[in-house]
Amino acid sequence: MKGIILAGGLGTRLRPLTNVTNKHLLPVYNKPMIYYPLGTLVEAGIREIMVVTGGNNAGDFLRLLRNGKEFGLSHLHYAYQEGEGGIAQALSLAESFVDDDLLCVVLGDNIIEDSIRPYVERFKEQGRGAKILLKEVPDPQRFGVAELGPNGNVLRIIEKPAVPPSSYAVTGFYMYDSRVFEIIHTLKPSKRGELEITDVNNGYIESGSMTYDILPGWWTDAGTIESLLRATNLVARKCRGSGIED
Ligand code: G1P
Repeated sequence: MKGIILAGGLGTRLRPLTNVTNKHLLPVYNKPMIYYPLGTLVEAGIREIMVVTGGNNAGDFLRLLRNGKEFGLSHLHYAYQEGEGGIAQALSLAESFVDDDLLCVVLGDNIIEDSIRPYVERFKEQGRGAKILLKEVPDPQRFGVAELGPNGNVLRIIEKPAVPPSSYAVTGFYMYDSRVFEIIHTLKPSKRGELEITDVNNGYIESGSMTYDILPGWWTDAGTIESLLRATNLVARKCRGSGIED
């Protein structure tokens, strides 16, 4: 299985912190933000990983992560996203890297308490289609939200709904088969001019090949000032609880 970390974007919701650097290089407690999704993928047993980024600070990722030795990797792959085409467009840059393999995509500002290894293993057994990870949250209107049917099946995902159909946010951990690239090629830009990952997920739901799991531990994004603070506090508590400070 291949791992893809999406670390592009302008980070407008974090200005002025992101005026001269990329959001994913900002500190979350004692490490740059991108360390967390990268650590999560490696811990799940994924060794072939691509970082997709863009903008003026793309070179800083190479200087920071180099070949991934700090994470026990011997090599890291990089792709450069021109412009702001959205999450699904960024993912399309990994097409030749993924080839015919399964892939696990992580948004570079998503931080999670627990291991994703069990879900990755379950998706490998599934072998095709897609899997998303849901988390019950108090503020679902900030996220993609899953509408669930009477027997718990996911009917569709609505991006940042004013009236959320449930309190289950779609987290930024997505597992796909290589058909994801065919789906991306059929997408049209949304109102904000981007190719949306939610449209990709709805494509899998329509073809009946989407599964999901619900995360028991904490999960947060770190793309706003409030969530960046929350991420820092959650990580700090976790590190202190385990006695690990570095
Ligand atoms: C993106 C996705 C959204 C998802 C969220 C998770 O939103 O579009 O569906 O719930 O990541 O962090 P963004 O943070 O880009 O607004």
